[in-house]
Amino acid sequence: MPSIQEKFTQLFGHAPSLMVQSPGRINLIGEHTDYNHGFVLPAAINKYVQIAFEHRTDGMIHMHAIDLNETVTVPAHPLQPHTITWVNYIIGVVAQVHAHLTSQASNNETLSKLNQGFDICIQGDIPIGAGLSSSAAVESAVIFALNEWYALGLTKMQMALMAQKAEHEFAGVKCGIMDMFASIHGEANQVMLLDCQDLSFKYYPLQLNDYCIVLFDTSIKHALASSEYNTRRLECEKGIKILQQTYPAIQTFRDVSVQQVEECLSLCKDTKENINSSSVTTHPSLISTKVYQRCKYVVEEIERVQLAVKDLLVGDMKAFGQKMFATHRGLSELYEVSCPELDVLVNAVKNNEHVLGARMMGGGFGGCTINIIKATEVDHIMNAVSSLYTQQTKRPLKVYPVQIEQGTHIK
Ligand code: GLA
Repeated sequence: MPSIQEKFTQLFGHAPSLMVQSPGRINLIGEHTDYNHGFVLPAAINKYVQIAFEHRTDGMIHMHAIDLNETVTVPAHPLQPHTITWVNYIIGVVAQVHAHLTSQASNNETLSKLNQGFDICIQGDIPIGAGLSSSAAVESAVIFALNEWYALGLTKMQMALMAQKAEHEFAGVKCGIMDMFASIHGEANQVMLLDCQDLSFKYYPLQLNDYCIVLFDTSIKHALASSEYNTRRLECEKGIKILQQTYPAIQTFRDVSVQQVEECLSLCKDTKENINSSSVTTHPSLISTKVYQRCKYVVEEIERVQLAVKDLLVGDMKAFGQKMFATHRGLSELYEVSCPELDVLVNAVKNNEHVLGARMMGGGFGGCTINIIKATEVDHIMNAVSSLYTQQTKRPLKVYPVQIEQGTHIK
């Protein structure tokens, strides 16, 4: 198989000037908390998207996805969302850079260079649709390359925010900041505690000693995820507005206690119609129980992440793992973003003495579970889970042992 540089040269008739590599991510704990002003604890992994880049001067962007064997060409300006998803991860970012440069008159020269276009090839080994943020890795690689090539002087956090905006505006998923943040900021052997309220963050070494991180992939692509994801976001926004009516001091989920949610929950009049209705009215007693369940999960999870970090600091990985199982229960029962296949995988290891913790990871409705497993037992557990999974779901199980690695960088 030709390398990405060779393929680029074959396609465009010249070698690339810039190579960037951007990783996928795992998240130890803190799921669906990023867009709810909570905490997340992600890390970058040794699965990557690579891009090869070269400037051009005819005002066109030529893009080639090696793994899909697809080429798309569009004018560098103006850019509109494209019908092909992966194209949006590239041009969505270019549109953000365009807007950024337009807002500063001193950048006219850079803007004209950006409008001259470029050639780009992408290739990767992050499984697509497995909840490991392959799309964020592409966006992160592209923003990193543009920052480098056009000397934009963006900070890593600015790059993450622009990549997030690209996903909102071009891919139509109202994602939080976690995926791009993790892909760009990752460091080898470190997890990152990100406060999604003020975007401050801290690195912590992850010392697993005899244990390792293994992902079990349901091989169900989280296709439902984008619409349900946006729905969860709306439900949480409704929930906060309603809680504010009873407790005016509340600004975000960070100001909410579990007790407050439970008090509101107990006021719910659960008519059947009410539960099924997505048009939630604003009187607390008429709110769908579902909205409170979402809020309860979020508030509990925000607290759980903070406690889990304490476990990490004192080296109590057993307690940490128990919190991962609790997160899974919350995601499955209250937030309702799991699916039978993910539940099968978590249940399969729940009572295994060699598994510290396991839970579904990412947006949900498919993708992977993250498991902390005793290194010497991985093969055995993997085989057992694999046959159980296939027996119960008639699907193959894919398994990825992962290492925590450096974030987006020049190759
Ligand atoms: C997806 C989103 C993230 C985050 C997770 C759930 O991966 O892109 O921003 O919300 O789901 O934690």
